[in-house]
Amino acid sequence: MAIREILEVPDPRLKTVSEPVTEFDDELRTLVEDMFETMYDAPGIGLAAIQVGVPKRVLVIDLQPEDPDAPPVECEHDGHKHTHPATKNEPRIFINPEILDPAEELATYQEGCLSVPEIYADVDRPATCRVRYQDLEGNVIEEDMEGLMATCIQHEMDHLEGILFIDHLSRLKRNMALKKLQKLRQAA
Ligand code: NI
Repeated sequence: MAIREILEVPDPRLKTVSEPVTEFDDELRTLVEDMFETMYDAPGIGLAAIQVGVPKRVLVIDLQPEDPDAPPVECEHDGHKHTHPATKNEPRIFINPEILDPAEELATYQEGCLSVPEIYADVDRPATCRVRYQDLEGNVIEEDMEGLMATCIQHEMDHLEGILFIDHLSRLKRNMALKKLQKLRQAA
């Protein structure tokens, strides 16, 4: 497994429309493993393949990224050691996901994104939805989503169309968010 670099705004690759997965092979399995490792390391609760520069319709989500009872894990990559919280968890893999039956009722969550670091904003999305997706073996599964999971999968699916959560904000709020990010980067 390997931690991959996460693309950040304004990297134009984040606007790519990702391609369907057709081969359920070792390359796909390696991609998914790397995506989990990258997401847990960040840490974040969801990641789309395009966020590590791979334009394929692959998402990983874990709404329970940390186990508060587990001892921290020591790990080493890129030649330096560090510790991070143990991961437990509820790893979920969604390949070629599609949304069916989005609810008319909206839910609002404060969203963030590993590709838009340090920026958080309220976004309205359908409160529930049904998702059809494939697993690592290519089996087709349908599942009803609600709560944070419904929001998270819709956020991640937007990435497959080249859309970021800040694209749901008004132009004014989006520009403010991007300016704030620019300032934070200059200060870093
Ligand atoms: Ni995101």
